Amino acid sequence: MIQEVEKYLAEAEAFTSNDLGEVEKFRIRFLGKKGILNKLFAEFKSVPAEDKKTYGQMLNKLKRLVSEKVKKLKETIENQSETQSGREDLTKPGYPYKLGAKHPVNLVKNRIVDIFRRIGFNVSEGPEIEDDWHNFSALNLPEYHPARDMQDTFFIQRHPDWLLRTHTSSVQIRYMEKHKPPIRTISPGRVYRNEDISARAHIQFHQVEGLYIDKGVSFADLKQTIMYFTKEMFGKSKVRFRPSYFPFTEPSAEVDIYWGLKTEDDYRITKGTGWLEIMGAGMVDPNVLQNMQIDPEQYSGFAFGMGIERIAMLLYGISDIRMLFENDMRFLEQFKSRF
Ligand code: DAH
Repeated sequence: MIQEVEKYLAEAEAFTSNDLGEVEKFRIRFLGKKGILNKLFAEFKSVPAEDKKTYGQMLNKLKRLVSEKVKKLKETIENQSETQSGREDLTKPGYPYKLGAKHPVNLVKNRIVDIFRRIGFNVSEGPEIEDDWHNFSALNLPEYHPARDMQDTFFIQRHPDWLLRTHTSSVQIRYMEKHKPPIRTISPGRVYRNEDISARAHIQFHQVEGLYIDKGVSFADLKQTIMYFTKEMFGKSKVRFRPSYFPFTEPSAEVDIYWGLKTEDDYRITKGTGWLEIMGAGMVDPNVLQNMQIDPEQYSGFAFGMGIERIAMLLYGISDIRMLFENDMRFLEQFKSRF
């Protein structure tokens, strides 16, 4: 009896076909009401006691083998006929469309770009692998300048002059190499810093850089532009400029917006002050203009730079920056309905 099952096992194992009718016949032969399996199961009682266990296991194996084979073959045949005929069954109900979601970093970047586009800024980009000149020297950070340490840089080992850009300010330089004033450009992009990864810091993030150069541009223009931006972006235009230092701007400022202290969250994110830092800015340093053969006696300008993740976290209430780089679908799908 065991031999008989072995024979059927071999038969089922060997069976293959790409004809639906044949597969159905095979199914009925084994699994049908009067099929082989039912017959074998019925014979169970006449199997000698010491063989019952093996016999039972073999029958189960046979049953599984046949069911799986039938399912697989049917699937393959159906797929084939769909692609072979090259024609779908147009009467079939449609598959539900799986909607994608934009990444929150992109959502925020697009909003920032839109806001500045409306007041005449164009968009420019530069490479993520930069050289020392564009990332540092041209921006008034000569070799051995202490401010280089402010940005923990990833250098590229085989090319001492190459590095992963630490800020999008490098695109200012690239833009000024190619364009004469008047200049109004914003440059979004990814930047890298050698930081310990935590809920608040990452080795990669995104910035948007802004640059405006023309005759007679003043600090008042910078202020108005930033206020317009914060109003459009956050619905808030109460801002303050704290004196600060960046080598590429003089004077330099850090810009805070008044976020308010209405909720417990407001207290947490503003550390109880109500104020929130959102960007660095300043008047382009004459040395930078000179490096780019732009006459600082004739032209002046302002620049600013902000981190996109920080703003995305604020707007969407994300408490851990790592969420933005893990591509966990459960997280990303929450942004489906956003534009
Ligand atoms: N590059 C600065 C940073 O990485 C941000 C910044 C500050 C950009 C002031 C600017 C600026 O253009 O004027 O943090």
